[in-house]
Amino acid sequence: MPISIQKISPAIGAVVEGVDLSDPVPSKVFEALQLAVGEHGVLAFRDQHLTPAQHVAFSRQFGSLETHVISEALLDGYPEIYVISNVVEDGKPKGRPYAGTYWHSDLSYMPVPAMGSMMYALRIPEIGGDTMFANMYLAYETLSSGLQRMLEQLRAVHDFGHADKRFFSQRGAKARLDDTAKKKTPPVEHPVVRIHPTTGRKALFINPGFTSRFVDMTEEESEPLLQYLFQHITQPAFIYRHRWQVNDLVFWDNRCTLHHAIRDYGEDSPRHMHRTTISGDKPIPV
Ligand code: SIN
Repeated sequence: MPISIQKISPAIGAVVEGVDLSDPVPSKVFEALQLAVGEHGVLAFRDQHLTPAQHVAFSRQFGSLETHVISEALLDGYPEIYVISNVVEDGKPKGRPYAGTYWHSDLSYMPVPAMGSMMYALRIPEIGGDTMFANMYLAYETLSSGLQRMLEQLRAVHDFGHADKRFFSQRGAKARLDDTAKKKTPPVEHPVVRIHPTTGRKALFINPGFTSRFVDMTEEESEPLLQYLFQHITQPAFIYRHRWQVNDLVFWDNRCTLHHAIRDYGEDSPRHMHRTTISGDKPIPV
């Protein structure tokens, strides 16, 4: 069956059919997928039957793999797999529960952020637990030319600990990032607009989870413009909401998208996912 890549929403995402990811994909298919992920931002593959080794092997075709700083959530024997899970067995959590329940781009808090991520669904709540994706090309392209020019001159600070401050501590929850993970992730700076290396398109590269301020400005000074941009970035017309099925593998491009896991299911609804994270390169400024 020839490979088919069909758009899944007007703004972002495509469904790929005709590929079995359990075997190495031929070079022509690999090239098509590499172009398609940059173009569509998100690729969904349904009904894939993958062992952890096959998941890792498919991911490695696109680059070297990251080992997540939250070491207690790595899969035994497969440190390339970050387990996102609310399942607890014999009193022991099987992975990181409710990770990424805010808009973000994976590893934007690292000096070299991730190119892409591949998440494989093993257990899904009967209802809920979707993931939303937003198109950062559209977010940039729909701003006025004056604001585009201004943002192209700016850099922003990204900080893993910022999500704790913004999304958890304020709600009275305990910080989710321990000191070891914090030490491994000091704040970094990136351009606010980056050029995607395969499409050549400009994309906004800030996110509510990890972007704390603009470089050379205080948080207080940065906040009004950041808040305006965050609301602009995440408007409904820029979003695709993926309703997971068991055995879905979703591949997203962190250079031109944001994503947000939705925490609308309870602890009695198991959700268990394996994610690999593909290394990227330093964001190209305009
Ligand atoms: C993440 O990679 O941020 C988690 C996404 C999800 O669990 O849906």
